[in-house]
Amino acid sequence: MSQVTKEKVQEALAQVIDPALGRLGDITVDGDTVYAAIEVDPAKGAALEPMRQAVQAAIEAVPGVRMAQAILTAERKSPPPLAVKGGGRPAGGGVSHKISSRPVAPQVRFIIAVASGKGGVGKSTVAANLAAAFARLGKRTGLLDADIYGASQPIMMGLSGRPQTNDDDMIVPPVCDIAGHPLKVMSMGFFVERGAPVIWRGPMVHSAIQQLFRDVDWGALDVLVVDLPPGTGDAQLSLAQYVPLAGAVIVSTPQDVALSEAEKGLRMFEKTNVPVFGIVENMSYHNCESCGHREDIFGHGGARAAAARLNVPFLGEIPLIAAIRAQGDAGVPIVAADAAHPASDVFMNIAARLWAVLPEKKAAV
Ligand SMILES: Nc1ncnc2c1ncn2[C@@H]1O[C@H](COP(=O)(O)OP(=O)(O)O)[C@@H](O)[C@H]1O
Ligand SMILES: [Mg+2]
Repeated sequence: MSQVTKEKVQEALAQVIDPALGRLGDITVDGDTVYAAIEVDPAKGAALEPMRQAVQAAIEAVPGVRMAQAILTAERKSPPPLAVKGGGRPAGGGVSHKISSRPVAPQVRFIIAVASGKGGVGKSTVAANLAAAFARLGKRTGLLDADIYGASQPIMMGLSGRPQTNDDDMIVPPVCDIAGHPLKVMSMGFFVERGAPVIWRGPMVHSAIQQLFRDVDWGALDVLVVDLPPGTGDAQLSLAQYVPLAGAVIVSTPQDVALSEAEKGLRMFEKTNVPVFGIVENMSYHNCESCGHREDIFGHGGARAAAARLNVPFLGEIPLIAAIRAQGDAGVPIVAADAAHPASDVFMNIAARLWAVLPEKKAAV
């Protein structure tokens, strides 16, 4: 396979970006994955998205590229503040390149990362339902969406609006109700207009994620579930290093390709000495809702076999069912909406099992 280089990407993009709309910013090549920033004037609005897609397609056409992500970044030098629209106090004082000196969620007993090598395997769905399951178990729980480019927790948890700050200038996480139990949620999605194509450049993303840990008033929690960005690149690695993770849960579909990505995730956590609690197989099988017939759409059992081979626990199988997607879209995770559903049982069991292995539970906060 040919080696992907920045130069090849630049060459491929020479004719693609209309200079009236933007110019090429940073390019990051991570093996067969390429991230490219296009610096634009956000005022140009709707014309920018087709250009972003064209750039992405042009990069994906470069031999050796498996995945490309093009992002539009604002041309301005100072980052956009995390401001509360329409009055109120600005939340957090703005995303800045300067990393906050506050400690990382100091009163949180256990931070659990939910990770996947690849996007689209249901990582956010698992993170949302796992957090809801911990809340249902009566644990003081938070859910932190660290997937800056693909923030999905505001929609999955049915929350909107800009968070406010408290008197200490910390961002107050909105709370959602999980069958009578509170769940605190924070996501960069709260600060980005829905559907807005303009996001931030690399270093700003890094500091934004840090801000979600340090400048949010998480308070005293038993568990903070973190929906990590997909992949096993620098962003994930650095997060695994600066956040004191109790451990990680890896989500995979049963397909071989997703499993090899899951294995990469596992190796990454090993490298950073973060314990891996185990692998969850999502979209494991499908039970026809009218006739009960079971179908293994993506194959089945691959993750269980991989867990055995990699010597980590297998945590459970989550079926591919319309209700999981529908509940996610409706802003109420299935664990919150329908506790009696067999899929909710799977999540409840995983949460209970994790709670049992979390070390030193007695350490009082
Ligand atoms: N077990 C499942 N059954 C049905 N739909 C699912 C399941 N898991 C995830 N989905 C759907 O698949 C899509 C991708 O899931 P998501 O959790 O956003 O993945 P990721 O965070 O890994 O990109 C979403 O529309 C979600 O509702
Ligand atoms: Mg996601």
